[in-house]
Amino acid sequence: MEIRLQKYLANAGIASRRKAEKYILEGKVKVNGKVITNLGTKINTEKDLVYFNDKKVCVKNKKVYILLNKPENYITTANDQFDRPTVMDLLPSISERVYPVGRLDYNTSGLLLLTNDGELTYKLTHPKHHISKTYIAKVKGIPDENSLNKLRKGIVIDGYKTSPAKIKLVRKFSENSEIEITIYEGRNRQVRKMCEAIGHPVLKLKRIAIGKIFLKDLPLGKYRYLTKEEISYLKKL
Ligand code: URA
Repeated sequence: MEIRLQKYLANAGIASRRKAEKYILEGKVKVNGKVITNLGTKINTEKDLVYFNDKKVCVKNKKVYILLNKPENYITTANDQFDRPTVMDLLPSISERVYPVGRLDYNTSGLLLLTNDGELTYKLTHPKHHISKTYIAKVKGIPDENSLNKLRKGIVIDGYKTSPAKIKLVRKFSENSEIEITIYEGRNRQVRKMCEAIGHPVLKLKRIAIGKIFLKDLPLGKYRYLTKEEISYLKKL
């Protein structure tokens, strides 16, 4: 990942970005053994070695927790064999190597957590933990109460029965509707398959919450850092 040198120094906790610029101009910063005084310099966070006052700058140990509002048509992996845009393309100024916590389909939007905290990722994605995930699904047609109850109780998809889910019909349009779905497991394309199974295929899908972490009004394609409270909430789950 490429990042401006002053931003890299700031992320590593050396100084504010402004101060870091001053240090660069003063010749206190070396990249791969060479003094760099050009403020536009970009460095490759995976390859380049950065030194401040001849001491190696290290950002590796800093844990970061990011909440991204993933747009549709972005893939939730670091690399895609078909060269499609990946969620990493939306985090150009994050110098740490972060990884998505679980995944969202290519055509699903909404809340995606990314972190370099492997322990937390393991916990949040392990099936035994039953962390809730809430989605708004726009579906074809308007499901009746009987169909919604099937989703609530559990429905057979791919030869297994889904565990009980919270289901709310939130909006009705003339030809389709929106339902809020909270599930406590996360099988492949689960929400799409559940809706398909009651005869109301998903037209659009957006994740709005993981546990009590909410997407709220974060614009599409933007990210923010989790707050201290949110991080400790996730760790305690
Ligand atoms: N369920 C789905 O079907 N797709 C997602 O992206 C997430 C949950």
